[in-house]
Amino acid sequence: DWTMAEFRQVKIAEIREQVGTGRVICGLSGGVDSAVAAVLIHEAIGDQLTCVFVDHGLMRLGEAEQVVSLFREHYGIKLVHVNAEERFLGGLAGLTDPEKKRKFIGGEFIAVFEEEAAKIGGADYLAQGTLYPDVIESVSFTGGPSVTIKSHHNVGGLPERMNMKLVEPLRELFKDEVRVLGKELGLPDIFVGRHPFPGPGLAIRIPGEVTKERCDILRKADFIYLEEIRNAGLYDAIWQAFAVLLPVRTVGVMGDYRTYDSVCAVRAVTSTDGMTADIYPFDAAFLSRVATRIINEVKGINRVVYDYTSKPPGTIEWE
Ligand code: XMP
Repeated sequence: DWTMAEFRQVKIAEIREQVGTGRVICGLSGGVDSAVAAVLIHEAIGDQLTCVFVDHGLMRLGEAEQVVSLFREHYGIKLVHVNAEERFLGGLAGLTDPEKKRKFIGGEFIAVFEEEAAKIGGADYLAQGTLYPDVIESVSFTGGPSVTIKSHHNVGGLPERMNMKLVEPLRELFKDEVRVLGKELGLPDIFVGRHPFPGPGLAIRIPGEVTKERCDILRKADFIYLEEIRNAGLYDAIWQAFAVLLPVRTVGVMGDYRTYDSVCAVRAVTSTDGMTADIYPFDAAFLSRVATRIINEVKGINRVVYDYTSKPPGTIEWE
């Protein structure tokens, strides 16, 4: 796409102009936006950029490793990988209220990021993968709902707190354009085409208390579900698909034994912007294959249900 190739060159020149010889720090979330912003900025200013990946231990199976190897080994970007799993799980212990979980994770994320920024001696600029819809949303509060449905976790509070200037090269782009730019920059398809993933990660897909054990169970179920979706060629037709581990145990039978294990819900929706969503109408054979595999392969789950709720009245995530 020649327009994206041109956009890339224009932005590289702009970033160089803005930053000069300054130092830039960029938080990676594992998502497409921050990844594309980081790779573009790296192309412009090389080692003046340091990325910080705060790994909260609430990522999907294998994703933290993918982020580290892509940025460090493939692109040669300076990357601080903070393994903060214990710190996040420690703070989540005993928390069951969805908003308390969200607020803790958001606050802790900022705290860890600030500590790491200080350790590397600070920076002059903070880079963010802000997109055009984010810019619009933050100025169009009038007329919107007056209640907070969920406190979204993002790094919006960072710039003021850290007293840094912003570098936001994606501010004019929509999500689909970011994906085109990501391809242009050589990011692998599995990264560029990835479903959105919420900042608080698996913590908001485990209603009730989040523990390492429950995260591990959910990671396995989620992996199987997504593998089946990819095998069926449905991944790109779906906006978001994921498993949820419920704080409910039910009785089952495996061979000659009684089981008493957790329920797993699987969800898949189509959407254009996440504001509204429809359930994805899988056929029965597909769902039954997913249920059978999860129950057979994941210890701790003995029942699988499909979430048939559109948005509204449901939200996409369960918390
Ligand atoms: P809901 O659950 O509000 O989600 O219907 C709409 C879209 O937003 C994602 N989501 C988040 N993304 N930080 C994020 O970056 C968050 O705290 C967060 N919560 C929800 C969700 O996955 C869906 O794509």
